Amino acid sequence: MDEDKDLIDGFFCPSRILFDTNTVNASRKSRKSKVTAPDPSQGFFDWLAPHYESLQPIIDPTRFQTQSVLLDILNAIEPSPKSILDLGCGTGTLTAQVLELLPEAHVFAIDGSIAMLETARDNLLDFTDQITLAKADFRDPWEDVIDRPIDVIVHYTALHHLPHNALREVYTRLIRVLEPGGWFIHGDILEERMPDPVQQIATNIRNFQRESAILDLSNGEELLDRFNEIRDASAKAGRFTETPAMPEQQIAWLTEAGFEFATRVFQDWQVSLFLARKPE
Ligand SMILES: C[S@@+](CC[C@H](N)C(=O)[O-])C[C@H]1O[C@@H](n2cnc3c(N)ncnc32)[C@H](O)[C@@H]1O
Repeated sequence: MDEDKDLIDGFFCPSRILFDTNTVNASRKSRKSKVTAPDPSQGFFDWLAPHYESLQPIIDPTRFQTQSVLLDILNAIEPSPKSILDLGCGTGTLTAQVLELLPEAHVFAIDGSIAMLETARDNLLDFTDQITLAKADFRDPWEDVIDRPIDVIVHYTALHHLPHNALREVYTRLIRVLEPGGWFIHGDILEERMPDPVQQIATNIRNFQRESAILDLSNGEELLDRFNEIRDASAKAGRFTETPAMPEQQIAWLTEAGFEFATRVFQDWQVSLFLARKPE
């Protein structure tokens, strides 16, 4: 990938920085809740990192419901997975849940934002010897940070930031790092063609959930306004993209990449979970 492309997506640090949590001082950093203005050279996700967890109840109020289904799927896989890839780990929320569920497992957690990875590192201090954190854009080579075949890939709401062609290419690379018979549990935001009245109800539910979440956070309204403002400015500057696919496209592209049994197993008003397997 050329550097211009890197810049467009706001990931200005093209060199990979690989670290693991063993190297970190064990004292936890205090959370900053003050909403900061972005540094002009900063990518959208680097700005978002310190605010991401506070924003979750507002921008993704049903994530824990969806993730509990994701974890149920993971828990049902036999034999119990020993090596897991968390693609687009963000601040490590899902990574921590995976490690709590599977205390014997090792997780390779990859993300393109150094600020997200630093927050993940601080959040994952309880699992220092079970995790490898790596900075990489999904479109660049990241496979070399993985030193063993992967039993399960988990993913939650990161891949819809890729253009569709890049997403299809990433699927072909994901299947290569998987062990034969390995699973991909893929949760993402989709484009849905819902009939207007259904869409209206879904929007009303989402607005109600957002408003309820805002009431519970002292600076919720300020945070959401700032998030919308910075996301829109980043999108306008070409530093942030969202290109959700249709559910049928997801299944077709997973199948085209060589996965079998690609199927949607869960959906809420925003996120769907797909399950797919690499043939034995
Ligand atoms: C909405 S967050 C989801 C984070 C996490 N999976 C979670 O469950 O909270 C999207 C994440 O994808 C990462 N990301 C977006 N586009 C990326 C790309 N092209 N390469 C690597 N990471 C990317 C962002 O840095 C961000 O941490």
